[in-house]
Amino acid sequence: MAEVERGKVAITDLPERLLIDHLDSRGRGIAHHGQLRVVCDGALPGEVIRATRYERSRRHVIAQAYTIEQAAEARVTPLCRYFGECGGCQLQHARYDAQLAYKESHLKQNLAEYGDVSPLSWLPALPSSPFHYRRRVRLSARMGDEGDVILGFHRKLHSYLLDISACPVLEPRMHMLLEPLHAVLAQLSVRHRLPQIEMSCGDQEVAVVFRHLLPLSNNDRSVLRHFAELHDVLVFTQAAGPESLLPLISEQMTSLQYSFPKYQTRLVFAPTDFIQANAQVNQNLVAAMMQLLDVQEHDVILDLFCGIGNFSLPLARYARSVIGVEGHPALVAQAQFNAEHNGLRNVQFRQADLNTWVPDVAHTKLLIDPPREGAIEIIKRLPGDSAETIVYVSCMPKTLARDARYLVHQRGYTLTKAGIVDMFPQTRHVETIAVFQR
Ligand SMILES: C[S@@+](CC[C@H](N)C(=O)[O-])C[C@H]1O[C@@H](n2cnc3c(N)ncnc32)[C@H](O)[C@@H]1O
Repeated sequence: MAEVERGKVAITDLPERLLIDHLDSRGRGIAHHGQLRVVCDGALPGEVIRATRYERSRRHVIAQAYTIEQAAEARVTPLCRYFGECGGCQLQHARYDAQLAYKESHLKQNLAEYGDVSPLSWLPALPSSPFHYRRRVRLSARMGDEGDVILGFHRKLHSYLLDISACPVLEPRMHMLLEPLHAVLAQLSVRHRLPQIEMSCGDQEVAVVFRHLLPLSNNDRSVLRHFAELHDVLVFTQAAGPESLLPLISEQMTSLQYSFPKYQTRLVFAPTDFIQANAQVNQNLVAAMMQLLDVQEHDVILDLFCGIGNFSLPLARYARSVIGVEGHPALVAQAQFNAEHNGLRNVQFRQADLNTWVPDVAHTKLLIDPPREGAIEIIKRLPGDSAETIVYVSCMPKTLARDARYLVHQRGYTLTKAGIVDMFPQTRHVETIAVFQR
């Protein structure tokens, strides 16, 4: 057994071979030796590794160099040449079904550990296409020491940028722009002061937003115009905050759209607005939400953290009325526009900070889709006669579990169902849909 002293271990006491027993929340393989936790980034559960170099950290030991003596059956060759270096994906070395299993076990473990809850039944995972799914991306840019353009994501272990010219999780419409974007950046006079490029796909159009810290020259504008025409994309410039977003060409379309054919609904959004990152999964998520909320004609539904109305509008096709609450004023205005654009009169939107808002709307059902921080503040303020059914869409199992603990152990709800929604294949991110009922 390793000698563990005040969180430290004599490295020499560790065995050479270790069996990986699970993945942690960052997608890293974890082995145990007695009470000691050994992190083996890149290893998968069931694998036996032979470590050649360990390093101590404050809370655990890291296997810095190792070989895999016995590979897991789920191990596959990563599709992306940058996997391991790039900070974007963590699970490309695992078969897709194993990724889903990992996310499910992560959710179960979080609900038990932080929530002291378990659902009455588990929902089957809502899967995605494993690659080419992502319809929104934010790339960072800078100039290298030799005047070269670096455009990509942050590296896995550092904050430095990794230059990328391919990314197989991106929708092909954005993926094919990566190389041309390098060429465009190289030609711009403001290339040293252009820190970010954001891309967003609607069903038809692709928007590319250039965030620049110095004014664009006439030549810069004509380079961007040429790029827009050649690749048939909408180009936007952004000199400061989101309110400074401008179309490069005044007569071009200024927004994007996506549709829910099933609900005869079309949502319009600005290129920097939040939209669910995976179009196919979003369609299935909304369908699942409709079914789990079991919307009836008499229902008054409160949709908290509603964004541009992604859930509110389909809900309004079936419910008596829907009230969407959102903190970002531009998203509230967009949601209002979307309701009118779809001829929906039974939905209204309010702007409020949900960390302090006091719910003053009687409702029969509740939908919550908060950011990573979760929704504990608003949940604590729900009136005693709040919804009989709550559907909670979460992007962070730990805060979902904390909020579930409160709903179940303080408010008397039952967690009837929960399951994962794989919004971000190849990454460690775990999205969940959970149902609470009185
Ligand atoms: C995960 S997104 C969900 C958006 C929407 N439900 C959708 O499906 O597109 C979370 C939303 O919560 C909003 N938000 C974050 N913090 C908030 C707060 N304190 N009060 C109100 N809204 C907030 C964000 O602006 C964002 O639109």
